[in-house]
Amino acid sequence: MTLVDRTRSLQKRLAQLDPATLGREETRKLLAELSDVLSQHGERYYTLDDPIISDGEYDALMARLRQIEDMNPVLADPNSPAKRVGSAPLAAFDKVEHPEPLLSLANAFSEEDIRAWYDRGLRNLGMLDPATREEALPRLALEPKIDGVALALTYDRGMLVRAATRGNGRMGEDVTENVRTIRCIPLSLSGRGIPSRMEVRGEVYFQRTAFRRLNARLEGEGLKSFANPRNAAAGSLRQLDSRVTAKRPLSFFAYAIGPASDGLPPLHSERLYQLETWGLPISPENRCVDSVDEAISVAVSWSARRASMDYEIDGVVIKFDDIAVQEQLGNVSNAPRWAIAYKFPAQEVTTTLRDIVVNVGRTGQITPEAVLEPVQIGGVCVSQATLHNSDYILSRDIRIGDTVVVKRAGDVIPQVLGPVVSARTGEERPWVVPRECPVCGAPLDRIEGEADTYCVSADCPEQFMRLLEHFASRNAMDIEGLGSKLAVLLAREQLVERLDDLFRLQMDDLIHLEGFGEKKAHNLLEGIVKARRRPLSNLVFALGIRHVGKTTAEALAGSFDSVDAVAAASLDTLQTVDGVGTVVAQSVYDWFRVEENRRLVRALASLGVNTSRQDDEARIHQEEGPITGKTLVVTGTLETMTREEARKMIAAHGGKTASSVSRNTDYLVAGASPGSKMDKAVELGVPVLSERDLLNLLS
Ligand code: IVH
Repeated sequence: MTLVDRTRSLQKRLAQLDPATLGREETRKLLAELSDVLSQHGERYYTLDDPIISDGEYDALMARLRQIEDMNPVLADPNSPAKRVGSAPLAAFDKVEHPEPLLSLANAFSEEDIRAWYDRGLRNLGMLDPATREEALPRLALEPKIDGVALALTYDRGMLVRAATRGNGRMGEDVTENVRTIRCIPLSLSGRGIPSRMEVRGEVYFQRTAFRRLNARLEGEGLKSFANPRNAAAGSLRQLDSRVTAKRPLSFFAYAIGPASDGLPPLHSERLYQLETWGLPISPENRCVDSVDEAISVAVSWSARRASMDYEIDGVVIKFDDIAVQEQLGNVSNAPRWAIAYKFPAQEVTTTLRDIVVNVGRTGQITPEAVLEPVQIGGVCVSQATLHNSDYILSRDIRIGDTVVVKRAGDVIPQVLGPVVSARTGEERPWVVPRECPVCGAPLDRIEGEADTYCVSADCPEQFMRLLEHFASRNAMDIEGLGSKLAVLLAREQLVERLDDLFRLQMDDLIHLEGFGEKKAHNLLEGIVKARRRPLSNLVFALGIRHVGKTTAEALAGSFDSVDAVAAASLDTLQTVDGVGTVVAQSVYDWFRVEENRRLVRALASLGVNTSRQDDEARIHQEEGPITGKTLVVTGTLETMTREEARKMIAAHGGKTASSVSRNTDYLVAGASPGSKMDKAVELGVPVLSERDLLNLLS
């Protein structure tokens, strides 16, 4: 029977079945069939990216599996696909002893270090004799050194039975429940030649994109974000509540096979490919080379490419590929002789902190900035770095004159990590938190629960200049030629005192300005004309609402069809937008409650600025939603909105609405007194959502 046939037959059976009436053996069989079918659909969805049933059908089957498992806990398989969503929290992790210790790696910091390691290896193998060097030098395998958390997975007859962290190398923590929620780690392996028992070692990590999304979500919910993907991976893996881990999109790459029972291929690289055929992910960057020179040139090339990889790597692991050679070389204390980690040149250096200055941003946000003794980091000269906010400086006791550690990672803004206390001379001066705006002298205010300080004045000229610069920037209204210099000039000359003044500028206003001729003035006016047609998301971003970045602005423009609709939205409705949590929603809501801001929006519209959604914006934002392309029917009396509002919201998230329930309905959204539509949905097995479910689904 094909998977589709099996699925249909299960669906039919489940629609008529009361699981309480089944005997033990029948229940066991049903659970096995349901688990198997769901695992296969999960594989199609998550690994092959080629689902053959709708998400709604998948969710409905999963809900039945969970229901029947909950009724029969003893029959539930620990590797059931329902475990992918996590289970009840643990009091603490169990400690587990590794059958063979998880070693660490010796480091190489230069080309010479790599050569020296390789030559030592050859010497230990009795191969350094120049006469024999030409022939059959041992091959090397190269792998990115992923900056994540080491994990040992035990598979017994192909089934995942245990997952443990490295711990101190001998004893780790049992994180099996959490690891079961990691989608790319197979709960069971498939293929030929799988050893009856085997330990797979690898690294759990966060993809950069997933990491950024996670932090945006945490920040949107007003929660603490993670400093880097490694911390996020460690923090997510070591959650006592695996349901939390399930919501964190962790990834995994296998890099070695530990103790295993049966025969495996003789080369390390072949073993990794073997793992891949059994369903375990390995890094697509892995490769083999025939000489140490080649190894060095590949390692150096990865160092240049690291910023463009979707995961953070801190080096390259170079391994002798032949397992027999590895065994011959053996280990020294806690690291193997057959492998070395080439670490990329430091992205962290020390330098002197000359001063701390504060900048005023477009939302009035005050950001302290470090003025540094210029220093080279990864080939770039750095003389300024961010210090985030006053708490950051005070909690790290960063003083003016300190020797400080500065980090620059890829194209990320350099940041001061902290002082080198041992280098202090006594001359250093603690920093005094300013109480007044350095530009306009207005008092500074700190919003409760936020780390940042703001200038309270609506008339702060610095704020307005920054806002104007932001308003005109590429992702906002994209007005060519209007950068920070011109923003300062227009504001200082009082030609633009409020953002809408920009659209009232005339040739006469500009032509007499310093550095302006007719051509330049003409180009600017042309740019301003074009800016009137920018998409809604650009305008929403341009307004400079606190916490509303480009992505949030796009999400808002995907959910509401005009600025007026955003302005009219309730706090609850705002929170249903993807990526908008309580903090962001409150900020948007508050912004539109300020009369001057409402006036600005009205003025922009009357000056011909586009304030409505253009067709393609909706589409862009509907690509990935949970109800994209799905058909929903709304019935009954809803609590927080009218049925019409619910339909609009569904449409804004890419869903379709219909007036009656049929086989083509994906969900019925039912409020109070749902009537006959509910009966029909139950009859047809259409999943029923409450209003809260719908809001949860869309948030
Ligand atoms: S092999 C016996 N390969 O680096 C050698 N390790 O500093 C075992 N790591 O704890 C490690 N990527 O978690 C190996 N491709 C890779 C790796 C890798 C990252 C981590 C690993 C280990 C640490 C050692």
